[in-house]
Amino acid sequence: MHAVVTLPGMDSLLPLSARTDGGALSIGGVAATALAEEFGTPLVAYCAETLRSQARAYTGLDRHSLVVYGAKAFANVTLLQLFAAEGLGADVSTLGELEFALRAAVQPERIVFHGNNKSDAELSAAAAHDLLVVLDSGEEVDRAAAAGVRRALIRLTPGIEAETHRSIQTAHAQSKFGLDAGQALVAAAAAKERLKLEGVHVHVGSQLTHVDASLAAVDGLLDFCARARDELDWVPSIVDLGGGLGVQHVHGEPVPDVTSFAGAVVSRFRERWHEPARLILEPGRSLVGRAGVTLYTVGATKQSGGIHYAAVDGGMSDNPRPQLYAARYEPVLANRTGDRPEGIFRIAGKHCESGDVLVDAAQLPRPRRGDLLAIPATGAYTLAMASTYNSVPRPAAVLVDGGSARLIRRREGVGDLLAFEVA
Ligand SMILES: Cc1ncc(COP(=O)(O)O)c(C=O)c1O
Repeated sequence: MHAVVTLPGMDSLLPLSARTDGGALSIGGVAATALAEEFGTPLVAYCAETLRSQARAYTGLDRHSLVVYGAKAFANVTLLQLFAAEGLGADVSTLGELEFALRAAVQPERIVFHGNNKSDAELSAAAAHDLLVVLDSGEEVDRAAAAGVRRALIRLTPGIEAETHRSIQTAHAQSKFGLDAGQALVAAAAAKERLKLEGVHVHVGSQLTHVDASLAAVDGLLDFCARARDELDWVPSIVDLGGGLGVQHVHGEPVPDVTSFAGAVVSRFRERWHEPARLILEPGRSLVGRAGVTLYTVGATKQSGGIHYAAVDGGMSDNPRPQLYAARYEPVLANRTGDRPEGIFRIAGKHCESGDVLVDAAQLPRPRRGDLLAIPATGAYTLAMASTYNSVPRPAAVLVDGGSARLIRRREGVGDLLAFEVA
């Protein structure tokens, strides 16, 4: 069931279970104000209904596919467990993410291990659990084989510039990831002698709002597969098509849904490649982005040079995306959703940097000290990229479902930060 949200345009930004009846935002049947009171702010609230619905949209695409959650979007044991219950595995790219997936009891045969610079310890851990390892460079073939890796894919970089922020393009000609077709053929020839080379992988970038680059990547991958069949007498039994689907952050921003994006990518591959192949899909952002809403308490308000500021109790430490990718957001006052907008306000964080701005120009009722500000579509690459700048401890996260909320990541305290000090 879709949200009954009375704020124009917000229904596609907020999680599926969001409601704004009675002038207040609720998620998963719990009032945002109650969440803030019980767990404090800043707080990231995840909607279980949205997480499950997105997972099911992916698992419904192709009977012969494995969907793995790109854990980098937010490595969290509870979310990994929720996705595992929906039949998903995990895409991990460090020892740390692997430990999260194992703690969540994700089955090792459903874990894909990535990384452009895997350490020996990471290769050994992948080997110990017999994970599917994505080989990212020519020199990694020997290192992986020596570490005992048995099953591998080769990462192809088809030279495609996806339409997204430069920092999250991954398949362009000068990318640090993967191998171009010529290099990948050489590496594949070596890999098939040293271990079980099961297939090929491609991932063009993240926060993609058009499917074209991903379709072009499939075409590049198909050319590679045809060459590998002819030149190496090798046919992939697994084809990993990566992730990349974006999330809508402001209304009016066109973002395809799972079927029209990932479904189109899968169909392109199936229509043009007729050998049997198991597909892997690796969505991260599109599984968790819309599910998460960050709640902040408004503090200082002021006018400066014609700009109306409202400062909140978090900022670039819990969400660095505005600084890293010029990300835009559209906040709401969660305790006053029925109030009419009264102007344009800049939402600043509490950090010692003028660039610490979460939202440059938000149309809102005039924020007052103590108001609860909610920023939708902040479930992906926010807490996952959080820092403790200014010795500000990182926020907590909760999962809301069917009228109750459960802590899924506890709030850090200054004591946690001091525990690293040696004096
Ligand atoms: C190899 C790989 N797979 C999957 C993902 C997940 O991408 P997204 O979160 O955009 O779906 C990433 C992230 O960029 C990645 O590097």
